[in-house]
Amino acid sequence: MHLLDLRCSECDHAHPADVWQSLCTACHAPLSARYDLEAAGAALRDGAHRRRPKGMWRWRELLPLPAGEEPVTLGEGDTPLLEAPRLAADLGVARLTVKDEALNPTGSFKARGMSAAVTMARHLGATTLCAPSAGNAGGALAAYGARAGIPVVLALPTDVPRSHRLEGEVHGATVHFVEGTIADCGRFLAGKRARDEDGAGAWTDLSTLKEPWRLEGKKTMGLELAEQLGGELPDAILYPTGGGTGLLGLAKAFDEMRTIGLLPADRPLPRLYAIQAAGCAPIVNALVAREDEARVPDAPHTVASGLRVPTPVAHRWILRAVRESGGGGLAIEDGELVEGSDRIARREGIFSAPEGGALVAALARLLASGAIERSEHVLLLSTGTGLKYGECWEPGHPLCPPEEGRR
Ligand SMILES: Cc1ncc(COP(=O)(O)O)c(C=O)c1O
Repeated sequence: MHLLDLRCSECDHAHPADVWQSLCTACHAPLSARYDLEAAGAALRDGAHRRRPKGMWRWRELLPLPAGEEPVTLGEGDTPLLEAPRLAADLGVARLTVKDEALNPTGSFKARGMSAAVTMARHLGATTLCAPSAGNAGGALAAYGARAGIPVVLALPTDVPRSHRLEGEVHGATVHFVEGTIADCGRFLAGKRARDEDGAGAWTDLSTLKEPWRLEGKKTMGLELAEQLGGELPDAILYPTGGGTGLLGLAKAFDEMRTIGLLPADRPLPRLYAIQAAGCAPIVNALVAREDEARVPDAPHTVASGLRVPTPVAHRWILRAVRESGGGGLAIEDGELVEGSDRIARREGIFSAPEGGALVAALARLLASGAIERSEHVLLLSTGTGLKYGECWEPGHPLCPPEEGRR
């Protein structure tokens, strides 16, 4: 393993990687894994990852996998990168591609993060895993916990789609339902932990970016993209941003690949666009206001459960990553999210979750404003399957797209 240590994303304070770490002990910001990129690069330039079976663990030189350890895996990663020519023509952009993360185990990109984090948690002796979740992450943690044989405790908002409840329960997790958002679930779980963990052993908290490993798993989306496109990365990537792990993972992947020479140093990296729901847009509002801290919404609401993250713990880091890439942010109304999913499905056969649907309306607007040029190659990161959000397409649901006018 080429892992060196964990560095604070804000103050660079170093933390050892051989014990379970949460936030920076000096300033409480999220930590980021640092590798010996020279050694990792030598193996990868030699094509080590191309000689291994399909899946994200092909990239193990850039992942946390201690010597002698096997990954906790369900076959995540190596999802398709699909050309979307009909949607591109509709929207008026030269090239549009979609990375379809629905093909991961548990139907979303959360599988990548949980595979990495549960692997490290098991290695470091975890006896119970816990996390608050807006939905997909909880389902993925329940599945990977079951795979590792470690009990899981989840806290989910009461109004998450039914499929998210089912996923947790069917995989044998203890699921608590909490009124409010993922932030309320986090508070609930902190209290529950304090009361319950004595005797049962300490709980290992896998909350978004309160541990460093889920980001490492999600980073593999960026590694794959670079490989799938032969190093010719898109000009812009639109990413549905909740806690921001995937967006930060993409930025970290490109940075590491450039450092080790798997991406050319003289070509610009993609501009990253954080797309959020109008009812919960802490990052976009800060970008618009040119502030360095998220603007917490008053009454966070959206049908895209994964985007209902009012207080992303890595807010400063996300804002920096978006700005450094030259990208931006945009907030989309709920009706447009579902319409967007509908449109990708009808045009390209990809049934994207409303989180991914948001990207269609966002791209139309970014093209209209000139932020993205019509001659560019744009990639939509479709983070999960729409099948888990079936309620939105039931007749009578306020967001169900009307039959007439459906394109
Ligand atoms: C389908 C989907 N897309 C996007 C997100 C947001 O992910 P991130 O925390 O990486 O910003 C989530 C999070 O729950 C999700 O489930």
